Amino acid sequence: MAKLGEEVSNKQIILRDYVSGFPKVSDMAFKTSTIRLQVPQGSKAVLFKNLYLSCDPYMRTRMKKHEFPNYVPPFTPGSVISGYGVAKVLDSGHPDFKEGDLVWGMTGWEEYSLITKPETLFKIQPTDVPLSYYTGILGMPGMSAYAGFYEVCSPKKGECVFVSAASGAVGQLVGQFAKLMGCYVVGSAGSNHKVELLKNKFGFDEAFNYKEENNLDAALKRYFPKGIDIYFENVGGKMLDAVLLNMKVHGRIAACGMISQYNLEQPEGVHNLVSVVFKRIRMQGFLVFDYFHLYPQFLDFIMKYIKEGKIVYVEDTVEGLENGPAALIGLFTGRNVGKQVVVVARE
Ligand SMILES: NC(=O)c1ccc[n+]([C@@H]2O[C@H](COP(=O)([O-])OP(=O)(O)OC[C@H]3O[C@@H](n4cnc5c(N)ncnc54)[C@H](OP(=O)(O)O)[C@@H]3O)[C@@H](O)[C@H]2O)c1
Repeated sequence: MAKLGEEVSNKQIILRDYVSGFPKVSDMAFKTSTIRLQVPQGSKAVLFKNLYLSCDPYMRTRMKKHEFPNYVPPFTPGSVISGYGVAKVLDSGHPDFKEGDLVWGMTGWEEYSLITKPETLFKIQPTDVPLSYYTGILGMPGMSAYAGFYEVCSPKKGECVFVSAASGAVGQLVGQFAKLMGCYVVGSAGSNHKVELLKNKFGFDEAFNYKEENNLDAALKRYFPKGIDIYFENVGGKMLDAVLLNMKVHGRIAACGMISQYNLEQPEGVHNLVSVVFKRIRMQGFLVFDYFHLYPQFLDFIMKYIKEGKIVYVEDTVEGLENGPAALIGLFTGRNVGKQVVVVARE
């Protein structure tokens, strides 16, 4: 066990260079550097030991140069990549943090991180739920499902809801929220095992394997003969095009993500956009960090359901920082079943 003030080795994951096309494990490098386990004198920084790291699809968008204003900046080639995670304070120069505090928020893909602006991190109050949940259901993906469904979709009891990438970190929650509201819910996922999970574990009314459907329009008509009120969009591309044909008049689309486009050099076109006009569809993109002010309200809401057993959560964990890159790129082949978490260290 390393002591405060000691210089220790610090394993890290580095982005080698900007990535084009499908990401590979070799786009990232495993490096060992050193770090002194002490906050520099006079600094307001906080030194963290990272425990769990979250693999999130948006991280791919940070692996290339982009110029989206007010979006997360690209990673710097040659530097440690960052992402959401759960960490423990080892030393603090900041009045709001003390040794032993647990937090979730942006941290480095490394064993120890010195964070100079810790104000953006959320403190974790001791509970009996697994700490890793703060990478998923109790963290950024949970907030995304909550804000996207309740704030953007304007859901009503009895409405017909479709969720793509439905077994993932966000999708599994959206489906359960929609069921709690009394909606009819269908999800799509990329394997028969995931389809079973959707129906038998998360309580979706129906689910289908989009990889086995040669006509997505026909598949949607099978499950929504009267049309879709709400589409929670996680994938984009051909699925979005088919959904547009099946939306009801005054339907809503919450554009949470479009993972099918993240690795393409030339984004696919969308052909059925005119439906937005003829069917008076409201399609709205959103980014979770615009809703972080709702986090305390969300936490009260979700903790109650977890404790009552009314909401369940499936995680997919890999052990060891060195296995992080493969887990991260596995999001783009659907290797993950549920929320993909990397265990760096257990408490
Ligand atoms: N707006 C925001 O603030 C916000 C916040 C969080 C997440 N998001 C977005 O929400 C979406 C879901 O994120 P998540 O964290 O819940 O990820 P996730 O679903 O846990 O993992 C990604 C899943 O996407 C599916 N997928 C991968 N490539 C695909 C493709 N080409 N076509 C269709 N499906 C594909 C795979 O599942 P299958 O096996 O089912 O194909 C994979 O398991 C992503 O688009 C992400 O960018 C947005």
